[in-house]
Amino acid sequence: MIFYCRRKMMSWVGSCSVQDLCESGIEEVPKEYIQPARNEFASLGCDGEGINIPVIDYAKLQAADAEEVSKFVDACKEWGFFQLANHGIPEDLVIKTQQVAKQFFYLPSQEKQEYFVATNQLDAVAIGYSRISFLNEESPQDWGDTLVIDVDANTEIDTWPKKPEAFREIILQYSKEITSLGTQLLNITTLSLGLPEQYVENNFGEVGLLLSANFYPRCPQPDLVLGLSTHSDPQFLTLLFQDVEGLHVLRDDRWTLVKPRHNHFVVNVGDQTEILSNGKYKSSLHRVTVNNERDRLSIAAFLRPPLHAVVGPAPCLIDDSHPTQYSSVKYGEFYSSAYGSLGKRNLESHKV
Ligand code: OGA
Ligand code: NI
Repeated sequence: MIFYCRRKMMSWVGSCSVQDLCESGIEEVPKEYIQPARNEFASLGCDGEGINIPVIDYAKLQAADAEEVSKFVDACKEWGFFQLANHGIPEDLVIKTQQVAKQFFYLPSQEKQEYFVATNQLDAVAIGYSRISFLNEESPQDWGDTLVIDVDANTEIDTWPKKPEAFREIILQYSKEITSLGTQLLNITTLSLGLPEQYVENNFGEVGLLLSANFYPRCPQPDLVLGLSTHSDPQFLTLLFQDVEGLHVLRDDRWTLVKPRHNHFVVNVGDQTEILSNGKYKSSLHRVTVNNERDRLSIAAFLRPPLHAVVGPAPCLIDDSHPTQYSSVKYGEFYSSAYGSLGKRNLESHKV
């Protein structure tokens, strides 16, 4: 793995991270962060204004409660998003995970430097600290930094940040819990599609976990930027913890706020599940806005297939009235092309 700093590469005046840029005391955002099409969709609906992201009770779902399963299926079909209550991961572990991630971002910049990697070096098994960027250099840049850890390759745990001191232990513990929850949720997902419970594992191999701690520093001109540009997630499922509001999902051409709820995870369907389900479940477009009062932290846990796995629509979901909608694709290739693709263009390019 090559770690290098953009400053060396591009003699970029300023610093490596968005956080450093903010801490330099700027009052106006540099032009490369300005989003000309920021308001391409109205931002009308949000929780509390009559539009609500579904809330699913995990305990009921696990007990195969018919009403809850039906809510889950509707959420996967119509929203591609829901909030998960009663998930069983100890709250103090979630809080500690949030704390160690925050403590990492608040380390002095030179202490984080050794983990810095250029965004285009972040691949599916990378670990590194970087500015967020789903997009290419020509697109407006996102107002946030990220620390990405591929937990599956956890033999490389000694490449994880050494500071704060509890970082490795807490992140490892959290990874185990979230992988177990995510895998069970994925089993429930395939079951709800009429497939065997272990469909994913049996056909593609053991799922891996990519963890991404996203840090969105408060911004002097929040209305001009995005923390994270519009995208869908390339994996199977995402389980996200967020502390401050900012995440929006696109539904019926409206940006709907996904309001943080105490001790809930935001779960969203990824592109691999849309492919696997032959389009029955939707991986929705989402984006992140920032604010000028509070730094925002989110921790995204992405459940992904092995890189060599070839994912395609489940054959038993295909018939005369449901023709094949997606071609099968090697996950590693799909993931690589997800970077630099706006919105759902990557998934669209695999439509039959
Ligand atoms: C992501 C993502 C949302 C957030 O990391 O893919 O959509 O709130 N994050 O940070
Ligand atoms: Ni996302």
